[in-house]
Formats: sequence, structure tokens, C-alpha cells
Amino acid sequence: MIDLYDIHNHLLPGVDDGPEDFLESIQICEIAQSQNTKMIIATPHRKDVTENHSVHLIKDLVSNINGNLTQKKTCVDVKLGMENHIDLDLVQDIENGKALTLNNSEYILVEMPWEGRPSYIEPVIADLLQSGLIPVLAHPERMRLFEDERALLGEFVRMGCKSQLTASSLYGKFGEKAQKASVDMMTEGLIHIIASDTHMAEGQRCYDMDLGFRFAKQIIGSYKATQMVESNPLAIFENQKMPIMKVK
Ligand SMILES: [Fe+2]
Repeated sequence: MIDLYDIHNHLLPGVDDGPEDFLESIQICEIAQSQNTKMIIATPHRKDVTENHSVHLIKDLVSNINGNLTQKKTCVDVKLGMENHIDLDLVQDIENGKALTLNNSEYILVEMPWEGRPSYIEPVIADLLQSGLIPVLAHPERMRLFEDERALLGEFVRMGCKSQLTASSLYGKFGEKAQKASVDMMTEGLIHIIASDTHMAEGQRCYDMDLGFRFAKQIIGSYKATQMVESNPLAIFENQKMPIMKVK
């Protein structure tokens, strides 16, 4: 049984569209442990934290969750990050501490716009790379942007970005289009990490890394699938370089 490391998870209670209460946050961690998950990065939406809460609050929540897990002898370690929507304030917000990288590493989870195609996308990505950060693009298989511009993900990966697929896209939870895009992007070598993007303990957006891993193995084989759920996300937790993956 391999170890799982999840870099995208909305498990913090009452912060964004994740769980409403602390109990459900703990349940998510217990389910993750049952799938042999060792570490999770809590990634609340930066917009929700900035507008309705604070970085101080989310740090406290992570600390409380880890304290409770230790008491229960649940061996999952929760770290802190954010899901950062791309906008013109992102680079400055990193400098002033309002935008967080993944577990304080050089990797930063970046979400492209769900609608529209602002011209600042490329310049902001270039600025992040220029400042020594590595953007990890969240769930490209579900984004209209990458559906409309098929070559764009490859361009970002060649620039130095990494990309993160959602486990449940692999078995059709986000529909056939996202499932097909997942297979295409994986086989083209454009995906580096599989993460859960969990929002709840049970239901549509539950924790399903083990199932995603099983489907990934069928598509790209055991070695590459293991890289995507174990060694590559672990490199992010440890702020290490990921092995270079060939882009077609
Ligand atoms: Fe998310």
C-alpha cells in the first residue's frame, strides 16, 4: 500500500465552501487516514480568507485540527496553503502575506478564471516564475480556459508550471468532458499531481484519492500514477524539486 499526500483540500471548517463544522473537518482527516494518507495541505480560497476571515484564523484552525488528531491518535498531518485565484493582486498579496504558498514552499496553488479570458494570465504566471515560485495549476481538466485553448496547458508546463488533476475527474464525477480531458492531459504528460479537492466528508466532493489512484493506474500505469499521488506531492511538502516529466 502506497502513502498518499494531498495538496488541495478545503477541510477547514466555516472558511469557504468546505465543511461547516470542526467535526466534519476531523471526519475528512479520518477518512483520509483510512486511505493511507500521511499529509494534507488545507487550501481555502484566498478570496474567502481575505474578504471574510484572516490568515491568523486559518493558522489557528490548522493548529486546532492537528491537536485534535494527535489526541485521537489519527496519524494525518495537516499543513497550510491556499487556493489562489489568479488576479493582478496575487504577486503583491504573496509579498504582504495575504496569499500563501503550499506549506510555505516555493510551490503555489493557482486557480485560473472559471469564466472569461483576462489578458493578465500569462504576465502574472511569468511574474510568479520570475520571483522563484512554481505555480501549480489547479484542476485544468475542469477549466473552460484549457478546453478552449488546447495548447495553453502545454505552454504553461514548458514555462515551468506544474499541474494538478482532481482525483474524482478520473472516474467521471465532473462529467464526461472532464473525464476525457483528464485522460488526454495525463497521457500527454501534462499532469504532475493528483489531489482530492475535498469539500465534505460525504457526498459529491468527498475524499477519494484511493479511487482516483486506481483509475490513474489504468490510464498511465502504476509507476507514473504513484508519482502523482506520492512522490510529486511529497516533493511539494518538502519543498524539493520534482523529477522532470517529458512533455510531448
Ligand atoms: Fe479547490
